[in-house]
Amino acid sequence: MTQTDVRQGGPETVVDVSSDLALYKGDGIVVGVFADGELSPTARSLDAAVGGMLTAVCETGDMSGKKGAQAVVYTHGKIPAPRVLMVGLGRAKNVDAERLRCAAGDAARKLRDSGCRGVGMGLHAGLSLSTTDAGEAIAEGVLLALYRSDLHHTRSTERKELDTLTLLDADAAARDRLSTGAQLGEIIAAAANTARDLANEAPNYLPPLALADRARDVAETAGLTCRVLETEDLKAEGFNTLLGVGQGSVNPPVFIILEHEGDADEAPLVLVGKGICFDSGGLSLKSGAGMMGMKHDMAGAAAVIGAMGAIGSLDLPRRVIGLVAAAENMPSATAQRPNDIVYSLSGKTIEVRNTDAEGRLVLADALAYAARYEPAGVIDLATLTGACMTALGKHTCGMFGKHDRDTDALIARVQAAADATHERVWRLPLWDDYDDEIKSDIADVQNIGSSGLGGAIVGAAFLKAFVDGYPWVHLDIAGLMTSSKNKGYAVKGATGFGARLLTELARNWGV
Ligand code: BES
Ligand code: ZN
Ligand code: ZN
Repeated sequence: MTQTDVRQGGPETVVDVSSDLALYKGDGIVVGVFADGELSPTARSLDAAVGGMLTAVCETGDMSGKKGAQAVVYTHGKIPAPRVLMVGLGRAKNVDAERLRCAAGDAARKLRDSGCRGVGMGLHAGLSLSTTDAGEAIAEGVLLALYRSDLHHTRSTERKELDTLTLLDADAAARDRLSTGAQLGEIIAAAANTARDLANEAPNYLPPLALADRARDVAETAGLTCRVLETEDLKAEGFNTLLGVGQGSVNPPVFIILEHEGDADEAPLVLVGKGICFDSGGLSLKSGAGMMGMKHDMAGAAAVIGAMGAIGSLDLPRRVIGLVAAAENMPSATAQRPNDIVYSLSGKTIEVRNTDAEGRLVLADALAYAARYEPAGVIDLATLTGACMTALGKHTCGMFGKHDRDTDALIARVQAAADATHERVWRLPLWDDYDDEIKSDIADVQNIGSSGLGGAIVGAAFLKAFVDGYPWVHLDIAGLMTSSKNKGYAVKGATGFGARLLTELARNWGV
């Protein structure tokens, strides 16, 4: 039995496990139907209790069993729950964790919106997935799908919310496995929902210092240590790219360090996030339309903070460090200029040619700082370039790394985590040929490419110049930072992309 509050920004939803479907007293029960209208084992057992009504729905052709199909059956007192939602899962052998997350998410949202407060699910039986993995996927899908971010609505009318999600199975051993899976699913969904909360927050409510406060809160809850370097510390250390990007804003930049000790003796996994709390472009000002949504330019940082929370809560036996370079990129009399030269923390000099290419600047210092941990691997997440979104659209981020054996091994780990979480990655090249793009006449490197082509790769090539002595993978998540619709477990607004991937990566780190 698990009773953990995992919702942010809304009323409580709990995950619980319980017995027989036909005895369940909540407002709705969800069961699966496979391709060609074949009832899942759970649906079949419930069908007997409701006098064959589920079979009838399939026989009329109202439920095909196709992936995404839904049909509601009213039970007229035959069982305590007044309605059964039948959901199509497609061919049983093709049902994977992602399909379950989506089906469970769509079902939970539909039942919530029809006023259900208690929902029971029997979606896990008859699949090739283990019961534990199915429990995880269902809990995760539901808790992600029910996320809300209307933090600043002041209306007084009560919102429809689910109070309990109950995973149902008549078998006690199966319930134990569902419970184990659901507890994990809750923590992983919470990681993404924390990231969503941070990224959805309005920029006037989340300047860098406030982001640091939120990171401190996460650290306290999850048992992490948190250190925040503020202006004087940044000056003393020489974080000049971070200070440079932040110097046009009244809200000072910060560098956030979250640490999960795990096995304290090992070389750590280091996660780095771009935390631009608002990207106006600076003096290389964006257009009005281009600026819209730039509160999400800290989505990489949000993913790192969310994942670190989960890593701490799971108390993984691995040493993991989260680094966030946070600043607000604003135009003003004190703002950094195009043509400025900056002496970065690494010692390399940078010619700033476009103040809107600020993410790579703040990451330059973060990646240089990461080397101090002598990491076993470094992953950075950044909403770095519009060009990456142009190249790959909104269904995968771009993945970059040097073309050597250590990097390939790290890439393979990231790929495996992406496959498991369905937070998809697609590798793009990062050959040294691209280095010419960032050669500057007056400094070691310049912050934009000379050709104007291959912008996502050029951004990565710039970061590569600041990576020294550790395997590194860069994920350009610009296209993934927001969803435009509620679909499956996606909710309109910030996606939390990367939080689940990083948590999965850390769970499998060193094994
Ligand atoms: N934060 C933006 C990238 C971005 C754009 C993310 C759209 C999500 C949606 C980044 O700081 C930026 O402005 N990049 C410039 C780089 C250019 C000046 C070389 C871009 O993509 O245009
Ligand atoms: Zn920018
Ligand atoms: Zn940016």
